[in-house]
Parts: sequence; structure tokens; C-alpha cells
Amino acid sequence: MTLIALDGVGRTVELPDAPPLQILSAVDLVIDDGDRVSIVGRSGSGKSTLLNLLGLLDRPTHGEIRFDGAEVRRLSDARLARLRGASIGFVFQQFNLLPGRTAIENVMTPLLYDRGAAFWRRERLAAAMLERVGLGARLTSMPDRMSGGEQQRVAIARALVRRPRLILADEPTGALDLETGSTVMELMEEVARETGAALVTITHDPAIARRAVRHLRLEAGRLVPLDGAEAPGAAPAASEAVSAPERRREFESEPEEVRA
Ligand SMILES: Nc1ncnc2c1ncn2[C@@H]1O[C@H](COP(=O)(O)OP(=O)(O)OP(=O)(O)O)[C@@H](O)[C@H]1O
Ligand SMILES: [Mg+2]
Repeated sequence: MTLIALDGVGRTVELPDAPPLQILSAVDLVIDDGDRVSIVGRSGSGKSTLLNLLGLLDRPTHGEIRFDGAEVRRLSDARLARLRGASIGFVFQQFNLLPGRTAIENVMTPLLYDRGAAFWRRERLAAAMLERVGLGARLTSMPDRMSGGEQQRVAIARALVRRPRLILADEPTGALDLETGSTVMELMEEVARETGAALVTITHDPAIARRAVRHLRLEAGRLVPLDGAEAPGAAPAASEAVSAPERRREFESEPEEVRA
């Protein structure tokens, strides 16, 4: 099912002493439930601007965005904020954890805005999500006492604790070493798969980009699909785009293929 659809979306910002800056000119994009999309583009090409639009943090200056069928333009700021809280999880390069709050307090934060049962169960839900990301023994650790990879796992737990339909990750591995980065991506992909969430990852790293199923690049204010030879790590590394469980299945089925 279509989760979010952008049709001819642009974003122009007014500058005090210069003509208006057109960051995005005409972006068309449809993201379905369970989709896995990567977006690359040079610095300043508008990736974070686009992510803020996808995350309902900003409104387009032209074009149309529909979230779950509803035209974003027609929704009030309060309605957008509720929709965002319930349906979207953000993961950033710099983790953006609340300092002076423990891991579990950080993960509970989004549940404070839940109007349903999750509000009352927030402690148990947060503990379970931290358990899920392998930090069950670090519930009361302070972020500044955790490694970068651990902090990013707390941030992932916080992004996922309300079971969002859309996970938006802006350079999620940018502050991590190669191996920690790919562990963090694997985890995010696994949990997204478990919950059926769509995952949109913005990255400079071709190895991270190629983990997605659909590959896009922002260029001159537009999104262009990267297919075939242009795709990040085309042909030779394509097998890495396959998720870990799929890889395992492939691996497990190998002997049969050999026998056949
Ligand atoms: N509110 C704003 N006012 C003025 N300029 C802005 C505003 N938001 C973004 N920009 C400019 O728009 C351009 C795109 O910014 P954006 O942060 O989306 O780029 P990016 O692709 O995420 O870059 P990076 O890879 O460095 O993170 C930049 O030149 C930035 O300075
Ligand atoms: Mg950016």
C-alpha cells in the first residue's frame, strides 16, 4: 500500500540578502509500506531538506505530498505533529539522544505522547525495544558512557518503539566505523522487516546505499533513479544488497543447487 507520495514537490527558501534559493524543484516519489529506499547526492543537494518533507517536519512550497492518502497541505500543524509522532521514526547521524537521561528514558520519550495503552506500558515497551537492539543490560546507562554504535542503537530503539510505518535515517552510519555502521544498518533493516515499516536511508556511503532495494540520487533539485550500471555497487557487489536472512537462505540452499 502507498504510504507517502510526492508529486512535483519543490522547496524554495527565502534568503535575507539574496534571491530565493530553490533547493528542490520537482521531486516525484512514491514509497510503499515495507519499501527500502536509499538516497544519495552531493553535499548541499537537498537530501536533508527532502527527508524533512518526508518526515512531515516541513511543508513543500509547491507540489503535493500525500501521507496515507491524506493531502499534507490540508492538515493542521497539530494533526501533522500527531501523525509524525505515531507514524514516523527518525535516526540521525549525531544520534540526538537527550543528555543526562538514561537509555531507557530516551527510548520512552516518544511514548509519552501516545494517547493509548502504550503510554501506560511505556517502560516495558522501551525495555523490550532496547532488549531487541541488544542493549537489555544497558537500560540505565547514560548516553555519554556508551560507544557510538551503542548510542545509535538507543536512537534506533527510540525511533522504532512506537512501531512507525516509516523510518527515516539521515546519514545513520556517518559517525560510525565501517563495521559498526553495517551492524547498525542490519539491525534497522531487521526491525523494519519485523514491523513492516518502510526504510528510507540518506547516505554518502555507496556500501550503505546498495543495501536498499531502490536506489535514488538527488541531482539539480530532482530525484533520479539509479539503475543498472549507475546503481551503487552494481553487479559485483549486488549480493550485498540482499538482507542477512535472505543471504542465510541463499547460503542454506546452496548445497541443494550443487546437488542438482
Ligand atoms: N532553511 C534554510 N535556509 C536557507 N538555506 C537552506 C535552508 N535549508 C537548507 N538550506 C540550503 O539548501 C541546501 C541543501 O541543504 P540540505 O541540508 O538539504 O543538503 P544535504 O544534501 O542534506 O547536504 P549534506 O550532505 O551536507 O548533509 C544547502 O545549500 C543549504 O545551505
Ligand atoms: Mg544533510
